[in-house]
Amino acid sequence: MSDTPQKPLPFVYQFAAGAVAGVSEILVMYPLDVLKTRIQLQTGPPVPGVDHYNGMFDCFRKIVKNEGASRLYRGISAPILMEAPKRATKFAANDSWGAFYRNLFGVDKQTQGLATLTGATAGATEAFVVVPFELVKIRLQDKAQAHKYNGMFDVVKKIVATEGPLAMYNGLESTMWRHILWNAGYFGCIFQVRAQLPAVEPGNKNQQTRNDLIAGTIGGITGTILNTPMDVVKSRIQNTTKVPGQVAKYNWAWPALGTVMKEEGFAALYKGFTPKVLRLGPGGGILLVVYTGVMDFFRKMRDGE
Ligand SMILES: *[C@@H]1O[C@H](CO)[C@@H](O)[C@H](O)[C@H]1NC(C)=O
Ligand SMILES: *[C@@H]1O[C@H](CO)[C@@H](O)[C@H](O)[C@H]1NC(C)=O
Repeated sequence: MSDTPQKPLPFVYQFAAGAVAGVSEILVMYPLDVLKTRIQLQTGPPVPGVDHYNGMFDCFRKIVKNEGASRLYRGISAPILMEAPKRATKFAANDSWGAFYRNLFGVDKQTQGLATLTGATAGATEAFVVVPFELVKIRLQDKAQAHKYNGMFDVVKKIVATEGPLAMYNGLESTMWRHILWNAGYFGCIFQVRAQLPAVEPGNKNQQTRNDLIAGTIGGITGTILNTPMDVVKSRIQNTTKVPGQVAKYNWAWPALGTVMKEEGFAALYKGFTPKVLRLGPGGGILLVVYTGVMDFFRKMRDGE
């Protein structure tokens, strides 16, 4: 993006750009997300008669062999429906919070600190949009509960009926932490990496794409390193069925981190890291390239170039 402030496009365009960017990424990358969740939900030593996964490839092989390849796409409708609002919220919230903070602090140029703060706030905003979808997805991805639910709407119906409507927001707190950390890393790095890379000659599409791919990928990797522990506890919290009168084992994010560390060791906080970073590293790059590209396209259309 150039230094001259561009006239912002209305939200509907950001929504469309976010949707195109997100859905393309998800169709290719979703199976990695299933592997990630399965590995994160796995606790303790192998149990006879239950598949135990020794890493990503083993998990892939066992799911395909014992449950069928279609399992790798189970639960995909929730993220697809969520993708457009999520991606649009991410970039739109980043833009609006950016303007808000610049105003608040009375500065007119983006700085490293502001870029990180803006990303963190955009992440917290995004969490509100994604929690119910994430909850449905986790329940469909978990093997132990696979028989309980018949697709997305069935999950919603059953959660609302047996756990109450508020249960749809189960895991909001851990999801907020997860998104605050990821987006602080993502937008913070994009700012820094864009500043370090050779400047794009105006109108040079290839340079723009190359820079965005590099900046977005580094941003995605950094965000993932920062937020994986929160992702592990979020998976655990959202997998838990709420039972009235019973205190759940995993409840609040920070204490849950302690529980996982105490019971399974520090490394357990990075469960599912490989499939996650393989997805969200390049995914972060693709996201930024497609988003910038689609927004440029809309801008040209509007300006009648
Ligand atoms: C995030 O918002 C800031 C401030 O509005 C903007 O300068 C920056 O380019 C945005 N980042 C991305 C990746 O769109
Ligand atoms: C997920 O939660 C369900 C229901 O609470 C439980 O039966 C199952 O064992 C959990 N899955 C894992 C892998 O922890």
